Amino acid sequence: MHTKAFVLAALSTVVASEKTCLNQTVPVTISSRNGNFSLKAPSNNIEATAFVQNLSRPGQNYSSTVLSGYNTVSGTYNISTKFCYDNDKSGTDAALQILTHGIGFDKTYWDLPYNNYNYSYINAALAAGYSTLSYDRLGIGNSSHGDAVNEIQSFLEVEALRSLTTQLRKGSFPGVNQKFKKIIHGGHSFGSIQSYSFANLYPTETDGLILTGFSLNSTYNAFFLAGGNFQLASLNAPLRFGNLSEDLLHASADLSAQQGLDVDLTANLANLLSPSAGSPQNLPSGYLVTGNPSANQYNFFLPGYFDAGLLYESERTKQPVTVGELLTLSSLSPTNAFAGPVLVITGSADLPFCGGDCLTTGTSSPSIPATVSKSFINVAPENFTAYIQPNAGHGLNAHYNATGAYAYVNQWLKAHGLGAN
Ligand SMILES: *[C@@H]1O[C@H](CO)[C@@H](O)[C@H](O)[C@H]1NC(C)=O
Ligand SMILES: *[C@@H]1O[C@H](CO)[C@@H](O)[C@H](O)[C@H]1NC(C)=O
Ligand SMILES: *[C@@H]1O[C@H](CO)[C@@H](O)[C@H](O)[C@H]1NC(C)=O
Ligand SMILES: *[C@@H]1O[C@H](CO)[C@@H](O)[C@H](O)[C@H]1NC(C)=O
Ligand SMILES: *[C@@H]1O[C@H](CO)[C@@H](O)[C@H](O)[C@H]1NC(C)=O
Ligand SMILES: *[C@@H]1O[C@H](CO)[C@@H](O)[C@H](O)[C@H]1NC(C)=O
Ligand SMILES: *[C@@H]1O[C@H](CO)[C@@H](O)[C@H](O)[C@H]1NC(C)=O
Ligand SMILES: *[C@@H]1O[C@H](CO)[C@@H](O)[C@H](O)[C@H]1NC(C)=O
Ligand SMILES: *[C@@H]1O[C@H](CO)[C@@H](O)[C@H](O)[C@H]1NC(C)=O
Ligand SMILES: *[C@@H]1O[C@H](CO)[C@@H](O)[C@H](O)[C@H]1NC(C)=O
Ligand SMILES: *[C@@H]1O[C@H](CO)[C@@H](O)[C@H](O)[C@H]1NC(C)=O
Repeated sequence: MHTKAFVLAALSTVVASEKTCLNQTVPVTISSRNGNFSLKAPSNNIEATAFVQNLSRPGQNYSSTVLSGYNTVSGTYNISTKFCYDNDKSGTDAALQILTHGIGFDKTYWDLPYNNYNYSYINAALAAGYSTLSYDRLGIGNSSHGDAVNEIQSFLEVEALRSLTTQLRKGSFPGVNQKFKKIIHGGHSFGSIQSYSFANLYPTETDGLILTGFSLNSTYNAFFLAGGNFQLASLNAPLRFGNLSEDLLHASADLSAQQGLDVDLTANLANLLSPSAGSPQNLPSGYLVTGNPSANQYNFFLPGYFDAGLLYESERTKQPVTVGELLTLSSLSPTNAFAGPVLVITGSADLPFCGGDCLTTGTSSPSIPATVSKSFINVAPENFTAYIQPNAGHGLNAHYNATGAYAYVNQWLKAHGLGAN
C-alpha cells in the first residue's frame, strides 16, 4: 500500500500541466427585487422589432415608461457550470476567477474550442495558475429558463452570481472540496454589468474586478439594439430554440451534408435548420436572438481582425437575450461601493460601449472606458486601470490577438496583489 501511494504521488509530480474541468448543474436558491414591467412579451417578429424600436428611441427611457412597480421574485434555479483547474499549476490556495458571459454567448465564450482552444481565456488563466468557474447565466443556455419579462432580469441574475460565489467561498460548491479565499470576478459586456452590480451590492464578497467589453456610457446601446436585428429566438433558430420535431432534425442533417453552398446562405439556413446539441429549448415569447451573421458581426467583430470561421461558429452557437434583460441592462448604480482593484479592458472598436471608437471622447478623458474611474469612488487611483485593447471589437475573446489581451489581464492581476498564489 505504502509503495503504491508513493509511486502515485511521485507520478503526479511529473505529469505535465493538464486542464481538468468539472461540468455540472448547480442549484441556487435566490430572491431579488425585480422590475414589474407592464409589457406583453413579444410573441412574433413584428412585436420583437416593435420592442426594439421602442427601446432604442432617442430621448426617452422605455424601461421607465413601462415600469409599473417592483416585485420580489424568488426561487430555486439550476445553473449550468464548468469548474476548471490545472492539475499541476493550480495549487490548493489558488485564486479563483468567476467568469460571467455577455449577451449572445454562453459560458463557452470563456473557453472557445475553435482552432484547438487557441482563443481560450480559461486556458490562459489556468496557465497563470488560477482556477476558474464559468457558467451559463440564469435564463440562458443550459441554465433554467423563465418568464422573459418579469423574471429573467439582471437583478435576479446578480443574485445567482452571488450564490455561486458564496458556495465557492464556503466550500459547499458541489464536487469542489475547496474554500476559496481570493475570488476575482470577470465579466464580458452584460456579464461585466452584472459583476459591477454584484461588487456594488456585496463589496466585501469580491477581491477584484475584470470588466471586459465595458464602459458606463449608454449612448451607443441603441446601435447594439438596432444592429442586432433581433428576432424571436424560437422563430429564428427553431431547432435550437423552438419546439420542432425529429423530422426536421433529419432534414437538417441532409442539408448540412450538401457541399458548395455560399457560406452566408449556409449560416442563414443553419439558423433555421441546424440541430440543437440537446433537445430544442422551446423558449417562450420574449426571448430574442441576433438575426444573422451580419448582425452578429456588426455588434461583436472588427473587420480585419477576426477569423471568419469563428464568426460563423459564434452564429451557429449564438444564445438569446430576454426583453427583461434588455429593460434592466442600464439599471446600474452610478457609484460603486467596491474598494479593491478594478481593470476595465475594452476593444478599441467596441460597438455597444464606445460606438465603434473608444478613443474619440470629445473631452480630456483619454478614452470612453477611462471615465468608469469616476464611479469607483472608493478605489485608489493606482488600483484602477482602463485599458484599450488594440485592434479588437466588442467580442474581445474572438479576435486574433485575444491571447495578447489575456496576457495583459494576468500581468495586471499579479501587479495588483491578485496573482494566482
Ligand atoms: C464539459 O462540457 C464541454 C462542453 O459541453 C465538453 O466539451 C467537455 O468534454 C465536458 N467535460 C467533461 C469532463 O465532461
Ligand atoms: C405588476 O403590474 C401589473 C400591471 O402591469 C399589475 O396588475 C400588478 O399588480 C403589478 N404587480 C405588482 C406586485 O406591483
Ligand atoms: C411600443 O410602444 C407603443 C407605444 O408606447 C406601445 O403601444 C406598444 O405596445 C409597444 N410595443 C412593444 C412590443 O413594446
Ligand atoms: C434542476 O435539475 C434537476 C436535475 O436535473 C431537476 O430534477 C430539477 O427539476 C431542476 N430544477 C429546476 C428548477 O429546473
Ligand atoms: C494558435 O495561435 C498561434 C499564435 O497565437 C499560432 O501560431 C497557431 O498557429 C494557432 N494555432 C491554431 C490551431 O490556430
Ligand atoms: C410550439 O411553438 C409554437 C410557436 O412558437 C407554439 O404556438 C406552440 O404552442 C408550441 N408547442 C408546444 C408543444 O409548446
Ligand atoms: C448544453 O447541453 C447540451 C446537451 O447536453 C450540450 O451538448 C452542450 O454542450 C451544453 N452547452 C453548454 C454551453 O453547456
Ligand atoms: C431608465 O429607467 C430605469 C428605471 O427607472 C433606470 O433604472 C435606468 O437607470 C434608466 N436608464 C437610463 C439610461 O437612464
Ligand atoms: C490596492 O489593492 C490591493 C489589493 O486589494 C490592496 O492591498 C491595496 O491596499 C490597495 N491600494 C490602495 C492604495 O488602496
Ligand atoms: C459618451 O461618449 C460620447 C463620446 O465620447 C460622449 O459624447 C458622451 O458625452 C458620453 N456620454 C456620457 C453619459 O458620458
Ligand atoms: C496584442 O495585445 C497586446 C496586449 O494588449 C498588445 O500589447 C499587442 O500590441 C497586441 N498586438 C497586436 C498585433 O495588436
